[in-house]
Amino acid sequence: MRQLIPRPNRDVEPDLAVVYAYPGHARRWVRANMVSSADGAAQAEGKSAGLSGEADKKVFRALRGLADVILVGATTVRTEGYRQPAVPREQYARARAAAGQPPAATIAVVSASLDLDFDAPLYREAVVPTITITVGDAPPDRLEAAHAAGEVLIAGTGRADLAFAIDRLAESGRGRILCEGGPHLLAAVAHAGRLDELCLALSPQLIGGHAMRVIDGRLFEPPLPLALHTLLVEDGFLFTRHLVANPRAGHATDS
Ligand SMILES: NC(=O)c1ccc[n+]([C@@H]2O[C@H](COP(=O)([O-])OP(=O)(O)OC[C@H]3O[C@@H](n4cnc5c(N)ncnc54)[C@H](OP(=O)(O)O)[C@@H]3O)[C@@H](O)[C@H]2O)c1
Repeated sequence: MRQLIPRPNRDVEPDLAVVYAYPGHARRWVRANMVSSADGAAQAEGKSAGLSGEADKKVFRALRGLADVILVGATTVRTEGYRQPAVPREQYARARAAAGQPPAATIAVVSASLDLDFDAPLYREAVVPTITITVGDAPPDRLEAAHAAGEVLIAGTGRADLAFAIDRLAESGRGRILCEGGPHLLAAVAHAGRLDELCLALSPQLIGGHAMRVIDGRLFEPPLPLALHTLLVEDGFLFTRHLVANPRAGHATDS
C-alpha cells in the first residue's frame, strides 16, 4: 500500500493503525467506512462483497481493530450475513489493551422492527455483548428477545434518535465509533449531525445499473462539505479519508 496524501517523508508501507488513528482530543468520533465502485455503486448484485478485494479488507480490519463500537443497520445485518461478532486480532491486541478497550469492538445493530436473529453467533458468541439500538415502541416480544440476547439501548420512539444513541455510547466510554452502513443508516447518522469522517474505498470497477450510493436518504441542504485528509492506493483501489466539516456536529472534546 502507498500513501499519497499526506505525502510521507519516505516511501514505506503505511502503518494503518497510525494512518487511521482516532483523534486523541475527541471523546466522541464517528467514522463511516464504505466501499463504492468507480461509478458510485455501493452494491454489486445486492451486496458489497463484489466491490471488495484484499486491499479493502486490510483497511476494513484495521478500522475494526481501532473501534470501540461498530454501528450497522439491520438491513445490512440481514442481507450481508452479519451473523458473526467482531473477532479479536492479535495485531491490535496490545494497542487495544493499552487504550483500555476490550479485545474486539462491540457490534451495535440499529433496528426499529427488531426483525433480527437473536440466536445467531452475532448475539450468542460475541466476545463483547452485541448491542441493539432500538425504540421504545418496537414490538414487545421482539424487545424482550433483544433484552435476553444482550445490551439494549432505547433511543426514543418511532425511529431511533441516533444522536442520542451515539452520545450515550460515548458517555459510557465507547466513543470511537465505526459505522459500516448501509446507505440508509449512514444517511441517518449524517443527518443527525454525528458523522465526523468518511472512509471510502473506491473499487476499480464499473457496475452500472441502479445500485444505491454509499448514502441514501434526504438531500443535505446545503451539502456537507468534506476535507480530504488521507489518500492511499493499493491494487487499483483508492482509499480516501475525508473529514466532515459539520457545523451541527457539536464535537465532544475533552474539557
Ligand atoms: N458499499 C458498502 O460499503 C456497503 C456497506 C453496508 C451495506 N451495503 C449494502 O447496502 C444494502 C443495505 O443497506 P440499506 O441502506 O438498505 O440498509 P441499512 O442502512 O443497512 O439498514 C436500514 C435499516 O436499519 C434500521 N435503521 C436505520 N436507521 C434507523 C433509525 N434511525 N431508527 C431505527 N432503525 C433504523 C432499520 O431497520 P428495521 O427495518 O429492522 O427497522 C432500517 O430498515 C445492502 O445491499 C448491503 O449489501 C453496502
